[in-house]
Amino acid sequence: MLVASSPETKLLLRKLPKAEIHLHLEGTLLPHRIMSLAQKYSVPVDWNEIHSRYSTRNFTQFLELYKWATSFLREPEDYAFLAEDAAAALHEEGIVYAELTLSAGVMLLRKQNVTANFTALRDVFHHRAQSGTGPQVQFIFDAVRQFGPAPAMEVARMAADLRNAGVVAFGLGGDELSVPLSEFHSAYSYAAEHGLHLLVHAGETGGPEQIKDAIDILHAERIGHGIAALRSTALMNTLAERKIPLEICPTSNLRTNALNIQLNSATSDLSQHPLPRFFAHGIPVTLSTDDPAMFHTTLLEEYSAALQMGLSFANLLVINRTAFEHAFLLDPARQSFLAQLPPVL
Ligand code: ADE
Ligand code: ZN
Repeated sequence: MLVASSPETKLLLRKLPKAEIHLHLEGTLLPHRIMSLAQKYSVPVDWNEIHSRYSTRNFTQFLELYKWATSFLREPEDYAFLAEDAAAALHEEGIVYAELTLSAGVMLLRKQNVTANFTALRDVFHHRAQSGTGPQVQFIFDAVRQFGPAPAMEVARMAADLRNAGVVAFGLGGDELSVPLSEFHSAYSYAAEHGLHLLVHAGETGGPEQIKDAIDILHAERIGHGIAALRSTALMNTLAERKIPLEICPTSNLRTNALNIQLNSATSDLSQHPLPRFFAHGIPVTLSTDDPAMFHTTLLEEYSAALQMGLSFANLLVINRTAFEHAFLLDPARQSFLAQLPPVL
């Protein structure tokens, strides 16, 4: 029997070739990088401010942190540094494949050259993958929900333009309680017509109807978070029957207060997380970090947390396999990743 926190378990998990498919590149921005970027741009920032901003307790504080941290990313070189840090960290953890979400909506809002930022960071990841010091990667362009449908359409257009350069999907993040999903129908139709895969952050702080709309109106192929599904057995049945994955990010759900919201509690902890219930229900679930630097986590810690929730090591092998099965990979590449995985017991 493997103990969740034992060195043996940790080593086995580290060695397992893993996929990370819900990861915001900007969410990997570490405090020390903030400090060096602040110095580069002569912005007065001290460690107290950084640490206090990096201690989020609810979704509003998280969005504030995200806005503040990304304000230091101003030119392609900054994104390249970020990519170096992220590629090294992913490699160190045994992640061989990652789908990286970029907040293209934020870049556009700041009138940045999205293609130049993207090219700089993508080149870093490609060099790292080629030299065996980083994972293979593909990219997701995320629009920001509270910015509304017109900026989202701009993001969909950028994503379509860069489809042959490694962008495989269009997604929507930000505040679920801001603008209804129906308003993004045109942006999602455009993305689908241009061969992009479709993702939506839904049922994180919003209710199960957000997940339903993401599937029925926007035809989302995977749901970011989706923990509100715990409030609807009918929806859990649909997710299981239609094999629509939920990208589960347990630590994120604590740091944004999303778990408390869904459980209608002020004091929930990971022992009440619905991940084991979803798994037992036959819903495809994957494990991810979301914004690891901001939530002080790593993928290995998320796997350990899942063991502590009562899932077995064999269950984790299934979860990791699920991430590869539902990744936006073409079949020869998918099969070659799957062939590296240990058999599910
Ligand atoms: N963007 C980055 N992280 C996010 C999250 N957890 N929810 C919504 N949008 C995000
Ligand atoms: Zn996310």
